[in-house]
Amino acid sequence: MVIKSVEFVKSVADSNFLDSDYNEVAFVGRSNVGKSSLINFITGRKKLAKTSGTPGKTKLINYFLVNKNFLLVDLPGYGYAEVSKNIKTNWGDFLEEYLKTSKKLKCVYLLLDIRRTPTSQDEQMLKFLYFNRISTKVIVTKTDTLSRVQVFNQLNIICSKLGLNRKDIIITSSEDREGHKELMDSIEHFVKNEEENNNDSATAE
Ligand code: GTP
Ligand code: MG
Repeated sequence: MVIKSVEFVKSVADSNFLDSDYNEVAFVGRSNVGKSSLINFITGRKKLAKTSGTPGKTKLINYFLVNKNFLLVDLPGYGYAEVSKNIKTNWGDFLEEYLKTSKKLKCVYLLLDIRRTPTSQDEQMLKFLYFNRISTKVIVTKTDTLSRVQVFNQLNIICSKLGLNRKDIIITSSEDREGHKELMDSIEHFVKNEEENNNDSATAE
């Protein structure tokens, strides 16, 4: 897939989610894991999504329209803000409601920092996505910060902690531009209309 155009559409701070006919894919994960950087990497636009070394940069849900065809959704990170004990989940009702109610959401990419062992919040998020039958792919970020051997070892730790297979994980570095093709192919697969997917399988049979 070639990126021909990218437009910022809207930021939302409450449950006034964008109601459009476009398919969407969203990026979720701990604060500072590299969600906004990954969106910039995918689109080739350095300053499209705001990034920061300080966790908690993205506090809103931001929608970006790509090729006038589908939406990339940058979500606020979890694991940073002190969350009230009254809130049922650690990542907050806002994020949970978006994930549960967005009818055009085709896939959620859960980002994990290659240097860190997944936290209980990461595990909780993964279970939440499975439980709600939301298509999910795991992406590891920031592989440029480790050697290849370290990346390999960390992948084993992440896989065993989350019960994943190595092939389920997309390996990326926004800094070194690693994993671009795999990411684009994956996004393309999920945002394609069901109609097109059906036609594809009809041809394959
Ligand atoms: P929140 O909006 O706070 O949830 O964070 P985020 O997940 O959007 O992270 P963001 O993209 O703002 O990146 C956080 C920090 O990690 C920034 O300092 C980035 O420059 C850095 N970073 C992101 N991706 C990479 C990467 O692939 N390699 C390296 N070395 N640093 C990265
Ligand atoms: Mg961000």
